[in-house]
Amino acid sequence: MNKFLISILSIFIFTSLTVDAAVYKGQSEYVKKCVKCHKAGQAFVATKKKREWSALMKDKGQKLAEIHLESDDKGVEESHEYFESKIYSKNSKHLKDFLFEYASDSGNVPACN
Ligand code: HEC
Repeated sequence: MNKFLISILSIFIFTSLTVDAAVYKGQSEYVKKCVKCHKAGQAFVATKKKREWSALMKDKGQKLAEIHLESDDKGVEESHEYFESKIYSKNSKHLKDFLFEYASDSGNVPACN
């Protein structure tokens, strides 16, 4: 293999690894922070299209935070500390990657196992 091919290949491998890493980070954030209330897990993610998640996660997830902060559903206050935290705005891009990965029009079916 010549050097050119090797460098193209390594760029390709590197990018696919970093994309996976972001999705993985988003997934662990989701499992830690969202599943306790949205129990269906990945199936809940698949109730929305990429476009819908994109609107919710725009500007560091501002809209998603507002939905929770403005809701008066029972128990929702538990999420307020998280949605108001720096950790949320910092990790919102990983969360978005994960939500996109499993959106209903992503073509990825959530694994059952
Ligand atoms: C403490 C419980 C709690 C946590 C934690 C929580 N949610 Fe929610 N979420 C709710 C409640 C309650 C509502 C309904 C708000 C309303 O309709 O007034 C809601 C609404 C939503 C909605 C809009 C409802 C819809 O079907 O359009 C989305 C999307 C959502 N949550 C995603 C998330 C994500 C992603 C996380 C993790 C970052 C999360 N939630 C964390 C309780 C929670």
